Amino acid sequence: MTKLRLGVNIDHVATVRNARGGDNPDPVRAAQLAQAAGADGITAHLREDRRHISDDDILRLSQTLTIPLNLEMAATDEMLNIALKARPHAACIVPEKREERTTEGGIDTAGQHNRLKPIVTALGGAHIRVSMFIEPDRRQLDASKALGAPVVELHTGAYAHASGAAREAELEKIRVAAAYGESLGLEVHAGHGLTYDNVKAIAAIPQIRELNIGHFLIGEAVFIGLDESIRTMRRLMDEART
Ligand code: PXP
Repeated sequence: MTKLRLGVNIDHVATVRNARGGDNPDPVRAAQLAQAAGADGITAHLREDRRHISDDDILRLSQTLTIPLNLEMAATDEMLNIALKARPHAACIVPEKREERTTEGGIDTAGQHNRLKPIVTALGGAHIRVSMFIEPDRRQLDASKALGAPVVELHTGAYAHASGAAREAELEKIRVAAAYGESLGLEVHAGHGLTYDNVKAIAAIPQIRELNIGHFLIGEAVFIGLDESIRTMRRLMDEART
């Protein structure tokens, strides 16, 4: 099986920093440490309300990282302009609601084709690899393909938050969607809510090429350090793949 890439989302290092203002802890330092611990990429979500990652963080990440930066962004003109200036390796288009605590569902690529198309085209034209953060649903996969996005990221939140038979059903949806996505020629990623306990079943899906994981890794770092937290996740992903 192909090696599964790990994108480490550093948003919540910035959440802790912003709880007090000032410069500490610095998400860029966390990104460098994540790289040393085996991250294949760094993911950061510049939200409209700047509740965690700031414009300056994105600038510093894009200037200092030697592994790919994946900018999570809402499909707005403001974010498009920032992406075109920062030139991250990739941009993941996410839905964004001010009142939500985290990205609650996938973007409706099927219902918003006309709004999303110019943004996907402009990012692609700047050689930024566009991914659509979608629910594991055939319609959303077809619509992502129709938008011309080369990548989809399947939302694993419903799987992560379910238990028992419901979790198995959510897992099956992700398996089916990953296989269908690959058959369309899309590169398939996944993420949201992944932990040491639930990552293996997702990592074992052969069509998935990358996982983006944040909140759990940063929380676990409080207890065992960021290096160990990431190395353990990396090991579990590799074990699931063999
Ligand atoms: N992928 C996307 C598109 C996300 O929006 C998020 C959350 O910011 C993640 C992955 C990571 O989710 P979590 O922080 O729950 O690991």
